[in-house]
Amino acid sequence: MGTLDGKVVLITGTGGGLGRVAALAFAREGARVVGADLQIDANDETVDLVRRAGGEMTGLAPVDLTDPEQVRQLVEDAVAAYGGLDVVYNNAAALRFGPMPGFSVEDWRATIIGELDIPFYVSKFAWPHLVRRGGGVIVNAASMAGMIAGEVPPMVAHAAANAGIIGMTRQLALEGAPDGIRVVAVSPGPILTPASERDLGDNQAARDAITGKTMVRRFARPEEVAELVVFLASDRAAYITGANYPVDGGATAW
Ligand SMILES: NC(=O)c1ccc[n+]([C@@H]2O[C@H](COP(=O)([O-])OP(=O)(O)OC[C@H]3O[C@@H](n4cnc5c(N)ncnc54)[C@H](O)[C@@H]3O)[C@@H](O)[C@H]2O)c1
Repeated sequence: MGTLDGKVVLITGTGGGLGRVAALAFAREGARVVGADLQIDANDETVDLVRRAGGEMTGLAPVDLTDPEQVRQLVEDAVAAYGGLDVVYNNAAALRFGPMPGFSVEDWRATIIGELDIPFYVSKFAWPHLVRRGGGVIVNAASMAGMIAGEVPPMVAHAAANAGIIGMTRQLALEGAPDGIRVVAVSPGPILTPASERDLGDNQAARDAITGKTMVRRFARPEEVAELVVFLASDRAAYITGANYPVDGGATAW
């Protein structure tokens, strides 16, 4: 028996590093997963991996989550796929890095939309369905960048957006509690995914600068984040809401 047997879970960004691993972890625990992404091929690959592992998943792509109308439709399609909705994992994000004062207004807006608007839109349109179900859970992917400043790379919009996600999480938890909706945030430190592995390449100086802030001096594996997300989404975490959980190898503790 899985900890999420019978639950319907919408995960955004299932074509990406963490979203794919989360889809596998949720499905392993018995959830029926609906996964959305902008990228068709990468999302299809995740669906294939989940099904080959014996899990249940429906893929919806391409969906541009920065467009509220597409998000509204996505949520309707997700609800139709398995007849309801219990959990939302707001994982998808698109962001840009760069130093001040050259960081452009366009880069700022793209990051705020890509990191803060997306989870708001998905939460907004999923909300009535969670209420209809008698309650549910929203897990928001934030970042340690929402809690402390970061030197490498420079990240003014990323820091602002993730502090915003943590604040939004608290507020949604307060407003959702009367309807049985729990809302929590998970704030990872640096995670090694296929994308970050490719971006960092053989730049050992950048790798050392990033992991040097962690106490454990290494990147996280996506599984080390996904397992907490799965727990928070389950009924075992019934007393947890409004909280933000760092999974950062100790980076925010010193
Ligand atoms: N990787 C890290 O080191 C790290 C650290 C802290 C927090 N996080 C957070 O974890 C989450 C997942 O990160 P990741 O490393 O797996 O990222 P990723 O870039 O590998 O995956 C993100 C996915 O979201 C999708 N996406 C982006 N914009 C979209 C849009 N407009 N519409 C639909 N899909 C869209 C992308 O196509 C991609 O598949 C993000 O919220 C990120 O901020 C990651």
